Amino acid sequence: MRNALSAIALTVLVVIATSLYFTTVAPWLSKPKPSAPPEQVTVDEFQRLWYFNRNASRTSWMGVPTQQNPMDVWITQEIMFDTKPDFVVECGSYMGGSAAVWATLLAQANPAGRVISIDVLDRMDEARKLPIVKERVEFLIGSSTDSAIVAEVARRVSGKKVMVILDSLHTEEHVLDELRSYSPLVREGQYIEVQDTNINGHPVRPPGFGPGPYEAVQDFLAGNKAFVVDRDRERLILTFCPSGFLKRVR
Ligand SMILES: C[S@@+](CC[C@H](N)C(=O)[O-])C[C@H]1O[C@@H](n2cnc3c(N)ncnc32)[C@H](O)[C@@H]1O
Repeated sequence: MRNALSAIALTVLVVIATSLYFTTVAPWLSKPKPSAPPEQVTVDEFQRLWYFNRNASRTSWMGVPTQQNPMDVWITQEIMFDTKPDFVVECGSYMGGSAAVWATLLAQANPAGRVISIDVLDRMDEARKLPIVKERVEFLIGSSTDSAIVAEVARRVSGKKVMVILDSLHTEEHVLDELRSYSPLVREGQYIEVQDTNINGHPVRPPGFGPGPYEAVQDFLAGNKAFVVDRDRERLILTFCPSGFLKRVR
């Protein structure tokens, strides 16, 4: 009985602490620099409101949960129609909702287009029931930076136009590894979309994250002149991919 009461008390404490973190500490940690222009302060405040509001971020695509920002989905659709890739390679499937999004859009942009989506965990059963997923998505289970997975993807997309979307493990080291592994598959005019460059204070600061995708992009671009940041893809103002739309220009 005493153990049960202790467990309940501990659970209540964890719930209170977590909700306090999201409502007070996280927004405070992410406060904009005082020198930021007023419109940027407003945009950053809105992004934090959106990011830390669990209802706003509870998105799904055709019934399958996904963790996408609708503004970035719109821009990704524009990129797909501009570049008409044969393959979208996604690192980080989660439940397969985003792969279903890319497949739905790609089917219109390039009727022969296919999606390859990679994750260490297989939680895609609901997504696999969707006709569009059956038709054009292949899930690979394993780490996106495992050399066998990278080689398998390279074999499948050889000679084709490839767009890459990175949304797996959000550490600087892992994303840099992904950028180095998958960038050779992307030809001139095509894109790598590095998602969640907004964490580590750009402008959101979720708990447990240090240097991540944003820092990986900086590292990658410092040694690679073939890719540039396409700022026009950030023009809808709210993006979770600041500096993350990378276009191959040579
Ligand atoms: C942010 S979620 C992906 C969200 C998904 N793209 C969506 O929008 O619905 C990150 C995913 O990366 C996966 N992951 C973590 N480490 C990974 C790794 N080394 N390789 C591939 N996937 C990984 C996790 O299992 C998780 O499903």
